[in-house]
Amino acid sequence: MKDAEGVQFLQGCLPKLGLVWPGYRKVRRQVYKQIQRRLESLSLSTVADYQRYLETHPEEWTVLDSLCWISISRFYRDKAVFEFLEQEVLPSLARQALAEGGSTLRCWSIGCAGGEEPYSLSLLWKLTLEARFPAIRLAILATDVDDQAIARAQRACYTPSSLKDLPESWRMKGFDRTSEGFWMIKPEFREPVTFLKQDIRQALPEETFHLILCRYLAFTYFEGPLQSKTLRDVIARMHVGGAIVLGKNERLPDGDAGLIPWSEKEGVYRRAPAALMVP
Ligand SMILES: C[S@@+](CC[C@H](N)C(=O)[O-])C[C@H]1O[C@@H](n2cnc3c(N)ncnc32)[C@H](O)[C@@H]1O
Repeated sequence: MKDAEGVQFLQGCLPKLGLVWPGYRKVRRQVYKQIQRRLESLSLSTVADYQRYLETHPEEWTVLDSLCWISISRFYRDKAVFEFLEQEVLPSLARQALAEGGSTLRCWSIGCAGGEEPYSLSLLWKLTLEARFPAIRLAILATDVDDQAIARAQRACYTPSSLKDLPESWRMKGFDRTSEGFWMIKPEFREPVTFLKQDIRQALPEETFHLILCRYLAFTYFEGPLQSKTLRDVIARMHVGGAIVLGKNERLPDGDAGLIPWSEKEGVYRRAPAALMVP
């Protein structure tokens, strides 16, 4: 597919799916590949043919939506954010939980891809903080709309490149090397993580969370009103005093969402009232 054709096609279609072109600019070739495969399976030759197919087969929009799921992730993505979680956010949330008589820190990774993000959190807790807070356990819910991403996450087997940002000692402690050269996360780091197929646009977990990671999904790919709705829904699932983490360079949509910055640099916000936070 020629780039110009692809750009024109995506710029026309993405708004109809509640998605925005600027989010896709850098990753558009990944979407082209998916669309190309779909053209082949429908025996269509060009994007223009596919455009006409969409006009006559409205159910195909659901398929196109799934072709636009971008699954790029890696362990310890945006290292500084994980360091901030380790040094500031998780200890503060743990102290708050203890002050409230709690024993579990509930975390939610939204759009968890192949599990790199929730497993990074699990490694971080177990390798750096668990010994300081023995009365607290971490429970991580990891959701994604994509069955295949969830299946990859449950296999928990990774190429060396997806671990390249992880501290070397964590890689050695957290993974077993398979005979084919992959890295398989050890059972004790899998144990805190539960995976669930869920579309953030349509469903939400029942419980509230102390820490929510919503990175490189809603605030990159969703259009304004859908971002605002998603944020309202997510905040409704935040424990008072809890934190939300955005991706680097992602911004909260306009409007007072009842969040106050914890670190704008790291894209971490907490749910007011802050008076409930234990210093
Ligand atoms: C770019 S990855 C981000 C992975 C991870 N959060 C990170 O920061 O490394 C985006 C993930 O969101 C998932 N996704 C896309 N649309 C979604 C939706 N509506 N609900 C839940 N997950 C979605 C995709 O399948 C993909 O795995």
